[in-house]
Amino acid sequence: MRSHYCGELNTSHVGEEVSLCGWAHRRRDHGGVIFIDLRDHQGLVQVVFDPDVPDTFRLAEQVRSEYVLAVRGRVRIRPAGTENPDLRTGAIEVLGQSLEILNRSEPPPIQLEEHSHPASEEIRLRYRYLDLRRAEMQRRLRTRGKIVQCLRSFLDAQGFLEMETPILTKSTPEGARDYLVPSRTYPGQFFALPQSPQLFKQLLMMGGMDRYYQIARCFRDEDLRADRQPEFTQLDIEASFLQEEPFMGLMEAMIRQLFRTILEVELPDPFPRLSYAEALRRYGTDRPDLRIPLELVDIADLMAEVEFKVFSGPARDPAGRVVALRLPQGGTLTRKEIDGYTQFVGLYGAKGLAYIKVNAWSTQGREGLQSPILKFLPDAAVAGLMARTQAEDGDLIFFGADQASVVNEAMGALRVKLGQDRGILTEGWQPLWVVDFPLFEREPHSGRWTALHHPFTAPKEAHIARLDEDPSACLSRAYDMVLNGTEIGGGSIRIHREEVQRKIFRLLEISEEQAEDRFGFLLRALRYGCPPHGGIAFGLDRLVMLLTGASSIRDVIAFPKTQTAACPLTDAPAPVDETQLNELALHIRLRP
Ligand code: AMO
Ligand code: AMP
Repeated sequence: MRSHYCGELNTSHVGEEVSLCGWAHRRRDHGGVIFIDLRDHQGLVQVVFDPDVPDTFRLAEQVRSEYVLAVRGRVRIRPAGTENPDLRTGAIEVLGQSLEILNRSEPPPIQLEEHSHPASEEIRLRYRYLDLRRAEMQRRLRTRGKIVQCLRSFLDAQGFLEMETPILTKSTPEGARDYLVPSRTYPGQFFALPQSPQLFKQLLMMGGMDRYYQIARCFRDEDLRADRQPEFTQLDIEASFLQEEPFMGLMEAMIRQLFRTILEVELPDPFPRLSYAEALRRYGTDRPDLRIPLELVDIADLMAEVEFKVFSGPARDPAGRVVALRLPQGGTLTRKEIDGYTQFVGLYGAKGLAYIKVNAWSTQGREGLQSPILKFLPDAAVAGLMARTQAEDGDLIFFGADQASVVNEAMGALRVKLGQDRGILTEGWQPLWVVDFPLFEREPHSGRWTALHHPFTAPKEAHIARLDEDPSACLSRAYDMVLNGTEIGGGSIRIHREEVQRKIFRLLEISEEQAEDRFGFLLRALRYGCPPHGGIAFGLDRLVMLLTGASSIRDVIAFPKTQTAACPLTDAPAPVDETQLNELALHIRLRP
């Protein structure tokens, strides 16, 4: 039906007769001449209809936004003064000779203009097929396709085999709730949708497949955020007989190649590494955004004896933490701004946000400081604080004091917020590996041990002995890849010996019976010659979000769910009829 794409026409086509197909982006009547901007995924071209061809002209008059058209015409240079430098095809236009209306459209509920204000997300998702026609969405999804292709070609070249794993399966614990699917053939029993292909990829290694990858759909019923969807896509990878060093090297090389191909950006070689402990200490989080030049500074030792209980309490508590966060040139913050930040850290459980303004420390010492808490701090504590934070006149120092987990969350988030608000975030890409994770963490309420990654993560060889004495001192062979403050991937070397796997289950208070019931197939497989193996999973949606500059992964998924895990396009989830429920032996009883 067509000879060219609209968006590819340029002065080299002048004089040619072309056939184009696409949507009417805009129609303008100009004193007897009709202009239609015709759009396809490559872009727009202006088509001109003159009244000298009356039938065609009359048809052109009927055209409205989003009508689907087939146009034949001749490419010509635009008259001098009418060129549009903002448009790729802006030097030419097509003089329309024939026009066919292939389909009509109701007035679209979404503006498709490049720079128009986008409709609400609800409307965009309900009319997703229209939203996808927008140039921005076209760009993002086409880049997504290129990204997948680039990753595949790297992995294929490295001997990884693309394989698929089941969607109807048994629960794979990754820390979220399962999506369940009732079985008709086994009434009262359920499949779980995979939270990840974790156990299957390990079984593939046990099956001798050596190196595997998959663009894998994962399902997790958890609280949603801008970078979390209930249904998302991982690039899932596993390899046998590779230790963490060569494996991490390979994964870095893959990400470097991806950035080179898609953005022509050269990422560092090698990526820097931070231990989990250091990441928490300096940034309050295990996914630090290294573009922000602010760090938390521990001051508990300086504050243990001060009169100010807010500081001395946590300073003396082994589970407490007291930190300072120096904001260079922060002295200009107004009272209102500081109140705003106090509210902000409150969202993370902080009970307040003490601060000191450093007006003239260098000349006036203590007199040059301004703070509601100054009167509680003795000279030695103040001098120690100023030295350790290297504060200069004009700065402001924030403080967090509480349980370590609260301080880390609140002050870690404040660090990022200040970085963004104050425009001190450096441009560019800051990838890193976070390593040396603890194998376990304690659940705050029950005090039970839980796996920091998943229960199949291997302990460091030298730490296996510690499992019996002090599980908290046991580090794992896990590694996370972090880019600009987003965790883009996580993986580990796995447990490949049955007795270690059983021991981990015991520590997690999974009884022999439960272990047999939930993971019997894995434990059995471990008895038949399991190779040492390990792998990783990248959050593909997050990678695409970063590479396209989108602010939510919903903008890089063709048909995402809303923040409340629903689909406005299809109205899923939805009730089903009684017959289906009967077949599944289900009876719905809604809780009051
Ligand atoms: P993990 O749970 O860390 O590891 O997931 C791997 C990566 O997937 C992305 N991700 C998500 N993206 C969008 N929405 C979500 N709800 C979501 N949850 C996770 C993140 C994350 O880094 N089986 C292990 C991997 C392994 O050990 O090989 C796993 O799934 O970018
Ligand atoms: P208060 O004595 O409660 O009025 O607090 C004095 C100052 O300390 C105020 O600026 C509070 O915002 C701040 N503050 C209170 N609790 C904390 C905390 N846990 N961490 C940091 N600052 C706090």
